[in-house]
Amino acid sequence: MTVVDAVVSSTDAGAPAAAATAVPAGNGQTVCVTGAAGYIASWLVKLLLEKGYTVKGTVRNPDDPKNAHLKALDGAAERLILCKADLLDYDAICRAVQGCQGVFHTASPVTDDPEQMVEPAVRGTEYVINAAAEAGTVRRVVFTSSIGAVTMDPKRGPDVVVDESCWSDLEFCEKTRNWYCYGKAVAEHAAWETARRRGVDLVVVNPVLVVGPLLQATVNASIAHILKYLDGSARTFANAVQAYVDVRDVADAHLRVFESPRASGRHLCAERVLHREDVVRILAKLFPEYPVPARCSDEVNPRKQPYKFSNQKLRDLGLQFRPVSQSLYDTVKNLQEKGHLPVLGERTTTEAADKDAPTAEMQQGGIAIRA
Ligand SMILES: NC(=O)c1ccc[n+]([C@@H]2O[C@H](COP(=O)([O-])OP(=O)(O)OC[C@H]3O[C@@H](n4cnc5c(N)ncnc54)[C@H](OP(=O)(O)O)[C@@H]3O)[C@@H](O)[C@H]2O)c1
Repeated sequence: MTVVDAVVSSTDAGAPAAAATAVPAGNGQTVCVTGAAGYIASWLVKLLLEKGYTVKGTVRNPDDPKNAHLKALDGAAERLILCKADLLDYDAICRAVQGCQGVFHTASPVTDDPEQMVEPAVRGTEYVINAAAEAGTVRRVVFTSSIGAVTMDPKRGPDVVVDESCWSDLEFCEKTRNWYCYGKAVAEHAAWETARRRGVDLVVVNPVLVVGPLLQATVNASIAHILKYLDGSARTFANAVQAYVDVRDVADAHLRVFESPRASGRHLCAERVLHREDVVRILAKLFPEYPVPARCSDEVNPRKQPYKFSNQKLRDLGLQFRPVSQSLYDTVKNLQEKGHLPVLGERTTTEAADKDAPTAEMQQGGIAIRA
């Protein structure tokens, strides 16, 4: 099946799979999602509302127009409560977590600026887990960690299968000034330590680079990674590999690890590892009208090889990952729909309407009689 076939035959990825008569799993339960208006969190909020949960979503300013997409979600009017909370405001986090049976801690800065990254990521995570312990009602906390807490280890051999037992080397992250990975790794260590000390049931999802449609109006960092290959801002691609996963599958993973009593520990959330050359090839094949780079910026060193990984834990929980080519296709279509990318090489709506306007002889009882 081609990507386009798959797209045509696919159903709405966010739609609940349960039969219409079944009682949704989340009925009567309230959960908190931190950073609710973010890229991943928005899909998670959508999924939770579809499953019947009441959601307390934290945002820094509930009145900000950038939350409009959340307020427009099905069920939001009845079951979405936006709570004002900064990650460094413990009291506000406690208020948001109060009365919840579950907490999804997704908010984090996504930056390589150490001052903006490390403290909110680490202290915010400790605050969320402490707040969950204090609330007394929270059954489980799901923390959104990252592949950045897993793979940054120069000592890992090429044949090692990257899985939940792998941890990034903090010194290496520091030395290479990879402050995002450093912050996420320290935050995940802090999450495990705080949960152990406070007796909180913690499960962790470690997504790789996330692609797929945006619900919010703005472009987040991982989608900017794809957009730069389409809008002419990247003239070359790097000699680098990266693992990818679809945002709808990341949301699904969060819900599965929350709902499944047998879920425990970390969960590597990855569909495929691709060299950048593979990414640009897929994009150029699907969307030849954009100036997708064809040249690697490194013409000296050997081509970087993809690492091996295991996503078995999430597959054992029933998650079926979408192929990354489909996610890339959906990403580009969504960027066009949201106006982040011009639609090139296609007729405008007016041109199409003019050309296809039915002539008198075509309209015989509504049936076109001329090809
Ligand atoms: N996208 C990926 O490829 C990827 C991969 C692996 C892991 N992750 C992790 O997934 C989570 C969500 O990432 P995303 O891609 O959805 O990013 P995003 O769209 O940038 O969302 C991040 C959210 O965190 C909030 N936030 C940041 N700093 C905050 C603070 N000090 N107080 C309160 N809220 C704060 C942001 O709020 P504002 O809008 O107010 O800034 C935003 O809602 C993060 O933990 C990230 O590390 C992402």
